Amino acid sequence: MAGWMLFLTCGVCLLTPVLGGLLESYKNVKGAYDYVIVGGGTAGLTVADRLSESGKHTVLVVEYGYLEEDGFEAGQTTYNITSAPSPALGNRTFSVDIGCIVGGSSAVNGMIFQRGTAKDYDIWGELASPNNTWSWDGILPYFKKGIQLTPPKPEIPADFNVKYDMKYWGNNYTNHSIFATYPNYLSPSLYPFYQALKNFPGIKVTEDSGSGKTGMSYWMTSTDPKTGLRSYSRTGHWDNLNRANYDLLQGTRVRKILFNGNTATGVLITPRNTNNSLSIIAHREVIISAGTVHTPQILHLSGIGPAPLLQRAGIPVLVDLPGVGSNFQDHSYASVSFRFSTPPPVLPGLLNPQITPDNLGRIGLGLSLSLPTVSPTFSSLAARYLAQDPAAYLPANTHSTIVAGYRRQQEIYAREMLSDDFASLRFSAPSGSPDFTPVNIHPVSRGTILIDPSSPEDEPIVDYRAASNPVDIDIAVAGIQFLRKTMTTGELGQYNATEVVPGPGWESDEKLGEWLRQQSIPSVYHPVGTAAMMRREWGGVVDGRLRVYGAERLRVIDASVMSVIVAGTTSMSVYALAEKGADLIKEGW
Ligand SMILES: Cc1cc2nc3c(=O)[nH]c(=O)nc-3n(C[C@H](O)[C@H](O)[C@H](O)COP(=O)(O)OP(=O)(O)OC[C@H]3O[C@@H](n4cnc5c(N)ncnc54)[C@H](O)[C@@H]3O)c2cc1C
Ligand SMILES: *[C@@H]1O[C@H](CO)[C@@H](O)[C@H](O)[C@H]1NC(C)=O
Ligand SMILES: *[C@@H]1O[C@H](CO)[C@@H](O)[C@H](O)[C@H]1NC(C)=O
Ligand SMILES: *[C@@H]1O[C@H](CO)[C@@H](O)[C@H](O)[C@H]1NC(C)=O
Ligand SMILES: *[C@@H]1O[C@H](CO)[C@@H](O)[C@H](O)[C@H]1NC(C)=O
Ligand SMILES: *[C@@H]1O[C@H](CO)[C@@H](O)[C@H](O)[C@H]1NC(C)=O
Ligand SMILES: *[C@@H]1O[C@H](CO)[C@@H](O)[C@H](O)[C@H]1NC(C)=O
Ligand SMILES: *[C@@H]1O[C@H](CO)[C@@H](O)[C@H](O)[C@H]1NC(C)=O
Repeated sequence: MAGWMLFLTCGVCLLTPVLGGLLESYKNVKGAYDYVIVGGGTAGLTVADRLSESGKHTVLVVEYGYLEEDGFEAGQTTYNITSAPSPALGNRTFSVDIGCIVGGSSAVNGMIFQRGTAKDYDIWGELASPNNTWSWDGILPYFKKGIQLTPPKPEIPADFNVKYDMKYWGNNYTNHSIFATYPNYLSPSLYPFYQALKNFPGIKVTEDSGSGKTGMSYWMTSTDPKTGLRSYSRTGHWDNLNRANYDLLQGTRVRKILFNGNTATGVLITPRNTNNSLSIIAHREVIISAGTVHTPQILHLSGIGPAPLLQRAGIPVLVDLPGVGSNFQDHSYASVSFRFSTPPPVLPGLLNPQITPDNLGRIGLGLSLSLPTVSPTFSSLAARYLAQDPAAYLPANTHSTIVAGYRRQQEIYAREMLSDDFASLRFSAPSGSPDFTPVNIHPVSRGTILIDPSSPEDEPIVDYRAASNPVDIDIAVAGIQFLRKTMTTGELGQYNATEVVPGPGWESDEKLGEWLRQQSIPSVYHPVGTAAMMRREWGGVVDGRLRVYGAERLRVIDASVMSVIVAGTTSMSVYALAEKGADLIKEGW
């Protein structure tokens, strides 16, 4: 089982929310608001809360999904999208799970709550437009503001050596916070792994899972410590707020942004199961928070995107912005499993499991490791990657600005592959059995999410282009070879592990590469990057203030603005970037 596999155990049905400005029907929507936010997901509700909290401005969120998971179309809480085939993975296709519900993907995700390493956010700053404020230091205050830590009960750090440091966290509890919570139960079978791996050459224990450093730490879940239920953007940024100036229109699709010249003036909406179209005016700004899959589609439908694609779809071009829908990234993995013939002893410290409805007592051990830690041939791998022609593994006829931006990413990654501060692989041990999931945490392949020109309003074409760059296979192979070493040598060696998957016959690097092309999965449901915050001459879509190039009063705030993916699950970074984005809006256009 992959550490980040989804747990579709939604807690929303157990809540009895106060519905504030919930607009069940578009007939109740006002004609104009100060801010209109497209998508009531993870980022969208965070931004809406912050823009409405002063009471000075009116805010409308338009969300395609419904408030309740059993809403109007029972059971349908995710979109129904299948990817394009990935030729480098034997033309396999993959299910593209993303949330279609108020709360977005934060309402359906696996609740594993992690940050990336400091480097990831520093790279955002390197790639964004000049004089931006994005960096680890620039985002840390927003991690602290946006997420409140529930520390573990004292006996857990004592028994399991859980390390945390409040200097990385806020703990200003309100009944509408987002919570990162250590569970009050740890499987004692994780302990031997922790003990053995902390002494393995190159593996450090980080002082806190949110310290921004590479190494090993226990992870938290996004769980409300009081209720034991899922803590997500709806519970944190909608329920109980009851603000007269904050409306949420559910079950309604935003079809496009409306413009006067190049200035965004509002949105065109269509309620589900109707053919009605309605315009809503935004006096101050429109903010697109529709997520990595749909944000590029809304831009395309609004005339912002690669001109040739828009022309094929019959959409008048407002801004020729080639990068909209490119630079698509996710984490990829293949699960590897071992069996111990001499199982580790069950150690003391067995605490009463206090498994709550949502967190299921889940806790895991995560290792974000650099390439030098994992691979003895890291420098030749980095050199081989740097020597690539940047256009060679991008789609044919990729626009020159996108190639230039990819070249910049290639130089940065090749530099960082030599450093101990940048994670190339992440290993997750979710259960305490010797089944580790090596995740390629910074893939170098880039995919696309583009409208289908023959049916632009239908679901876009999600093309992972997984492992289209063979360096991704090399990195994944290095990860599995490292895992083999940790399982069979050092302190874990005493348990006499045999490899079950991939197992006999797949020993060499070459055979492992073949196995990965058959088995690897290009997504742990962390799609990012399709409206990247990069310089325009590098194929960027938004500037360092998250403003869409070539348009006025239009921003994107969601996972699509991440220029490079982070070395951890993505939702915590989305909350932080949304908090920062809201402050950028408050600072003015
Ligand atoms: C199954 C699954 C498991 C995951 N596991 C984890 C995990 O364990 N830990 C973790 O940290 N992250 C996890 N993630 C990823 C994380 O949840 C996402 O990265 C994050 O929530 C994305 O936030 P967002 O604001 O960019 O998009 P979303 O939260 O997806 O919000 C986008 C919203 O826009 C709405 N929308 C789209 N188009 C339109 C339109 N045209 N009109 C109106 N509304 C529209 C959507 O319905 C949606 O509500 C997982 C995701 C999934 C789907
Ligand atoms: C999902 O999409 C497929 C193909 O487009 C379709 O056959 C199927 O009925 C859809 N399922 C649901 C639940 O909408
Ligand atoms: C994948 O599909 C393409 C296009 O249909 C085909 O040319 C190619 O041979 C296929 N590759 C594999 C490995 O099946
Ligand atoms: C960035 O800041 C420097 C110094 O403050 C200034 O000289 C320069 O013009 C700025 N560049 C841009 C693009 O704003
Ligand atoms: C805690 O949150 C409240 C309400 O949001 C705010 O007024 C207060 O300033 C915060 N305190 C700290 C120490 O951040
Ligand atoms: C949450 O806090 C607000 C004030 O911050 C209060 O008005 C509201 O009643 C509280 N709701 C619950 C469910 O505790
Ligand atoms: C919407 O329009 C389509 C095509 O014209 C039609 O088939 C459908 O019945 C209409 N739906 C509603 C709810 O009016
Ligand atoms: C180790 O495991 C192998 C294969 O399961 C088995 O043949 C062997 O006897 C074991 N050795 C020890 C010392 O347990």
